[in-house]
Amino acid sequence: MKQIDVCLTPDLLHLHKVENTIVVVADVFRATSCMVTAFAYGVNSIIPVATIEECQLYQERGYLAAAERNARKVDGFELDNSPFTYMDERIRGANVAMTTTNGTLAITKSRSAVKVLVGSFLNLDAVVQFLKTERYDVMVLCAGWKGRVNMEDTLFAGALVERLKDSYAMAEDSAIMAWRLYCQGKDNLPSYLSSSSHIQRLQRLGIQKDITYCLQHDLYDVVPVLRGNALVSMQI
Ligand code: MLT
Repeated sequence: MKQIDVCLTPDLLHLHKVENTIVVVADVFRATSCMVTAFAYGVNSIIPVATIEECQLYQERGYLAAAERNARKVDGFELDNSPFTYMDERIRGANVAMTTTNGTLAITKSRSAVKVLVGSFLNLDAVVQFLKTERYDVMVLCAGWKGRVNMEDTLFAGALVERLKDSYAMAEDSAIMAWRLYCQGKDNLPSYLSSSSHIQRLQRLGIQKDITYCLQHDLYDVVPVLRGNALVSMQI
């Protein structure tokens, strides 16, 4: 039987098996929800980069550039990482370079995987359908916050375990924990998450509608996949 593993933060990645594994990177608030939305609205590609300097280099080469640090847009860049920014005509067909505090860093750290997918509640079912056709083990990499574990990405991991548990064995306790957490919170995620760190951080910045939006399940049938250094969309 295939296995599903959960890495609760990129700082624990060295303890997990990435080779011969499909990695699903999750940064529910908000990087991966934003990427999924961007593809649903017709973006052509997204290059995830770890640093602001790399993102600037792409901007100089004509890419639309998105940069966020500490949940705020970085001055000098066209785009932030709110999903609502990408519901816009100028996104259609665009090639975007993006750097975020945690999400893009997690993607760049996953490069040795057999495939890297971008997951969020918004495309949960599409990710499930994609994985069911694959023969590899899966690991969910939770982007967390600056090396720390967060609830929302762990809950996404648990949701994926829940939907795959008939065809994948849970690799170890982190998968079981994520799954149990999701079972406990799934009937009312906004309330279950209300005291979580990043929700509080976003609310301090007046960003409420992104929270509600990112917790919706199965809105889009796109699965962003890393091809070389760029994410492109697979339609399911
Ligand atoms: C991240 O990548 O850390 C997040 O997208 C932060 C945010 O919500 O802006």
